[in-house]
Amino acid sequence: VTELARDRRSRTTDGAWRERARRVIPTGMYGHLGVNALPPEYPQFYGRAEGAHVWDVDGNEYVDVMCSFGPNILGYGHPTVEQAAADQRARGDTQPGPAPCMVELAELLVERVAHADWAMFAKNGTDATSLCLSIARATTGRSAVLAARGAYHGWAAWSNLRVDGTTSEERANVFPYRFNDLASVERAIDDAGRDDVAAVVVSPFRHDAGHDQEMTDPAFARGVRECCDRYGAALVIDEVRAGFRLHHGGSWEPLGVDPDLSAWSKAIGNGYAIAAALGNERFVRGAERIFATGSFWYQAVPMAAAVATIRALRDDAAIDAMVRAGTLLRDGLARQASAHGVAINQTGPVQMPNVSFDGDVAFAKAMTFCGAAMEHGAILHPRHNWFLCAAHTDADIEAVLAATDAGFRAVRSSFETP
Ligand SMILES: Cc1ncc(COP(=O)(O)O)c(C=O)c1O
Repeated sequence: VTELARDRRSRTTDGAWRERARRVIPTGMYGHLGVNALPPEYPQFYGRAEGAHVWDVDGNEYVDVMCSFGPNILGYGHPTVEQAAADQRARGDTQPGPAPCMVELAELLVERVAHADWAMFAKNGTDATSLCLSIARATTGRSAVLAARGAYHGWAAWSNLRVDGTTSEERANVFPYRFNDLASVERAIDDAGRDDVAAVVVSPFRHDAGHDQEMTDPAFARGVRECCDRYGAALVIDEVRAGFRLHHGGSWEPLGVDPDLSAWSKAIGNGYAIAAALGNERFVRGAERIFATGSFWYQAVPMAAAVATIRALRDDAAIDAMVRAGTLLRDGLARQASAHGVAINQTGPVQMPNVSFDGDVAFAKAMTFCGAAMEHGAILHPRHNWFLCAAHTDADIEAVLAATDAGFRAVRSSFETP
């Protein structure tokens, strides 16, 4: 038992803020950071973050294995990134035009990401995926888009997994296929019309929330590329969640498959609000034609932070550090699961792990497990992949494993059949 596993944590300050929030914010907190559907051990409001550790508003400390759903890749408050951000902030952030670091950031991304010849910047992942679609449509003059059924590409009407607030017209040009199933891509192309497919959107691997993860079959990646070439469609990779966690360039580079366009956000600024759409020469025509912009898209601080982040990722061997921490975690969880006699499935890359429980109706075991882990100082998620960052030390993983041990004990005592 580590120092993080204290007596029951107080959450009175959090409760008071939640009460106030419910009066002025829909549901008290909406979106992916809302904890209304999570166990009661999850606080809603946080006070401080440093490295791989966070403190909630009641002062309870946690090792964060969600990394704010991805943006934290080097560690909260990484000194080099913070220095670059502070230096730029002292000169200016929102200005009448961008700072030179916009050009440096575009140059760095074009250097690091093999398929990229140019970069456009925005704020969120949804901006980046939607930009890629607009650019593909403007370049090809076509309407239809293929996206894997159940894959999340942002909250826009074309990509939203919930239909509330969208119209069927807004989704009419989106055709589903099944990830890793090339025949389903061919069928979707036929459904859409072979001459009308502007883009096929893929994830670097299947990381749909609520499902075990699926690594990409290299033959699928090559096959999708061939389909796009055959029918003149853009291959778009949504790197928003996985970008720079798997590879220092594009995630499919190790498979030898280059997309035409790619969407990035989350980790590229280590927590600063920045997104990028990258593309090759063929698609620059569409990028030049579309009208896409935002009041805060050209802020200099996040761009300076992104330059420092992308340099530090390689200089600090960040992916190696995440793989090491993720492997320690995966091995430890496997040992604990077998010691407790609880059957789990660990899927996906170790630096973006997903843990599910056998026969887990409505995620009841996962909820029990994560609630207990939270109480013992580790932030996990019952229905979404977790994220390692380069700041997770061996001691952090030990602390997480002490918390997950409590999680397994809770699952055993709640679900074990006598
Ligand atoms: C794969 C993927 N694409 C797009 C998005 C949307 O990004 P954002 O929430 O920054 O708009 C997300 C967010 O979780 C994502 O995981």
